[in-house]
Amino acid sequence: MEFIRLRRLRRNSLTRGIVSQTKISASNLVMPYFVIEGSNKNEPIKSMPGISRLSIDNLVKDIKEAKDLGIKAGLIFGVCDKKDKFGREAYSETGIVQKAVRAIKSNIKDFLVITDVCLCGYTSHGHCGIIKSQNPKVKSQNRIIDNDKTLKVLAKIALSHAYAGADFVAPSAMMDGQVKAIREALDKNGFRDTGILAYSAKYASNFYGPFREALDSTPEFGDRKTYQMDYRNADEALREIQEDINEGADIVMVKPAMSYLDIIYRAKEKFNIPLAAYNVSGEYSAIKKLSQGDKLKEKDLALEVLTSIKRAGADIIITYHAKEAARWLK
Ligand code: PBG
Repeated sequence: MEFIRLRRLRRNSLTRGIVSQTKISASNLVMPYFVIEGSNKNEPIKSMPGISRLSIDNLVKDIKEAKDLGIKAGLIFGVCDKKDKFGREAYSETGIVQKAVRAIKSNIKDFLVITDVCLCGYTSHGHCGIIKSQNPKVKSQNRIIDNDKTLKVLAKIALSHAYAGADFVAPSAMMDGQVKAIREALDKNGFRDTGILAYSAKYASNFYGPFREALDSTPEFGDRKTYQMDYRNADEALREIQEDINEGADIVMVKPAMSYLDIIYRAKEKFNIPLAAYNVSGEYSAIKKLSQGDKLKEKDLALEVLTSIKRAGADIIITYHAKEAARWLK
């Protein structure tokens, strides 16, 4: 015979199983949560079937469920109803995230709380940073996101999350120097054990649409292309990650995941640091649409996607499918 019978290893599920290389497990999945004020609230997000904004009491209940399914961590986003130009509510001691973290920590043992550190959900203009009026008379010079002013605010937000009890803070504003600013603020205040999960290579993606509905954070003008990465670039992602490692990140992230598997792969090859990938809202909604309510189809699609992200090199996957996937994997 002059050819190799590769099909021999695919003959039956037992054989396929013994040679299978990639396995996803609930313990590497992170469930994102949107928290709102009030009690006993569950507001479904239209563009993300199956995902709701939850008040703190329901959040605690849901996390208990997730924990029973084997999920070890949640990523918390606050839905803010007191937005202003400077996003002041983001670092309020009585802010929604701060209250939620305290509630989780006092009600649930052994669950990692990760908090998103950004301004877009808290500013009236919806941008991830503070806007500088460089030249009030010229419109194009009046709408600049001020990197260094934003750093101070991000550090304050992260610190307020640490005080509430967050295990990891996750800066997602894509400001240069944000990991360093946060690390310094945490250390100076005695939070040496609070970790940083850095959104290192975060692209200006069209897959964030449903999330922005959830958080009401669509920018009022312009877009995020002056701070988030251009999807035509790959080398730059490695520079971003390298810089975050130098600044003290404990875990780095590539976001989104599906269209960026090459970036995940290259990051895993190059760096020996835990790597997270964010399977974002638009990717989640696309799978929901494609499966048209057929749960079996959805399971097959979602598990293929999640496995491919792991196969590319991600150690941790942040996904809205986390709870469902944990159920499927049981
Ligand atoms: C905040 C932030 C965004 C996401 C996570 N953190 C949105 C954005 O940059 O507009 C998107 C997550 C998702 O789409 O699931 N900066």
